[in-house]
Amino acid sequence: MSSINYAEKIPNNVNLANDRTLQRALEHWQPHFLQWWHEMGPTDFESADVYLRTAVSVDAQGWAHYGAVHMPDYRWGIFLADAVPDRKIGFGDQMGAPAWQQVPGEYRSTLRRLIVTQGDTEPASVEQQRMLGHTCPSLYDLRNLFQVNVEEGRHLWAMVYLLHAYFGRDGREEAEELLARHSGDADKPRILTTFNEPMRDWLSFFCFTYFTDRDGKYQLKSFAESAFDPLSRTCRFMLTEEAHHMFVGETGISRVVKRTLEVMKELGTDDPARIRAHGAIDLPTVQRYLNYWCSSSLDLFGSEISSNSATNFASGMKGRPDETQYEDHVLRGKSIKLLMPDGEQDVPMLNALNEVMRESYLRDCEIGLKRWNRQIERAGHALRLTLPTSRFRRSIGPWAGLPVSPEGKLIAKEEYEKKLRDWIPTETDQAFIQSLMHKVVAPGKMAGWIAPPERGINNLPLEYEYVNLH
Ligand SMILES: [Fe+2]
Ligand SMILES: [Fe+2]
Repeated sequence: MSSINYAEKIPNNVNLANDRTLQRALEHWQPHFLQWWHEMGPTDFESADVYLRTAVSVDAQGWAHYGAVHMPDYRWGIFLADAVPDRKIGFGDQMGAPAWQQVPGEYRSTLRRLIVTQGDTEPASVEQQRMLGHTCPSLYDLRNLFQVNVEEGRHLWAMVYLLHAYFGRDGREEAEELLARHSGDADKPRILTTFNEPMRDWLSFFCFTYFTDRDGKYQLKSFAESAFDPLSRTCRFMLTEEAHHMFVGETGISRVVKRTLEVMKELGTDDPARIRAHGAIDLPTVQRYLNYWCSSSLDLFGSEISSNSATNFASGMKGRPDETQYEDHVLRGKSIKLLMPDGEQDVPMLNALNEVMRESYLRDCEIGLKRWNRQIERAGHALRLTLPTSRFRRSIGPWAGLPVSPEGKLIAKEEYEKKLRDWIPTETDQAFIQSLMHKVVAPGKMAGWIAPPERGINNLPLEYEYVNLH
């Protein structure tokens, strides 16, 4: 196993010291990254001591070290999962051939675009979340937010490493651009729409980490299959970090639901107005937030029918998440029936892979829903939280802009517009959620709209001072 060298300016397990040119290039980029963090990250908390985990190896067991750090001093570095000896390409037309250790010339620009698009989401989410620290529901949550932020920063490092190491001057330019685009910027926005949406409250943050980070998980899983071995190894380690982000989302929503159920029991009502008056979030509002962030994340998989998806798969650049679970890894001559606005259509499987991924993503999203619904059921209520179908509120693909209900029915435009306020958060909902957002930072204390977590971080008690604000 390649251990991580922390004596170096850039912690890494890629033997950076052996490649002086690359090392110098990355050391040149490093201060630009820190400047970006200083300007666009959680700037107002730079002097806080935060109880963070830092990667210390890429071993499945015990890869992280925990300790209090100032975020600007976090040891962002380059960590690749260990190489699989003699790794072979696992899908596509070149299946069985040796994995690529360098970028084949014909795939260079496509691979660079894929890496840049993934890389762009990482700093984007830090930018979106930069003000949330001011309204944290507890120190525990504040610490989790910052953990997610520093790890998204590290994910940027992961992609920048690939750009610098394998894409020459173009790659170095792209690495600079990754710091120049900003979430929501009118002139230089982030590449994908979801990553330009403002995030002003913690319910959105939990939905984002549940739905949007899970899209990230699916993208990383498909890159983990890539024939380009350095990309595969990078993404395999990123996935171990990503799991925590989804944990934050799933348990965050679960704690909101738990608190709401407590208030419903206490008041003996499911009347949203009374629940709100008591400072908790009524379940129909939770449902509207789920609808909003789930549908916003669905577009990230791209169009239902896509020649890019066919090229990416056939060439070996991007596989399906968990490729080994499928029987056919080549997919030539296969087709699938997809529901289009004007009826079912037979689509070559290779061109439908975005949709295959989107559907498996939605199944993964169901896991949390089942848990939250069990909580609701146990409390004796009939309401169930649901996910919208993959056709709801789309802005990419054949369903883009069409009036489709969350259940997937094409309906009249007037009806859709009237009902949309029952389906996604209204301005009133957003104002109400905003009214709950107050900073709670006494150790062990929780805001009234969310239940405490079941346990603390790294076996520490809930009362632990996870962030020392001084
Ligand atoms: Fe990430
Ligand atoms: Fe993430």
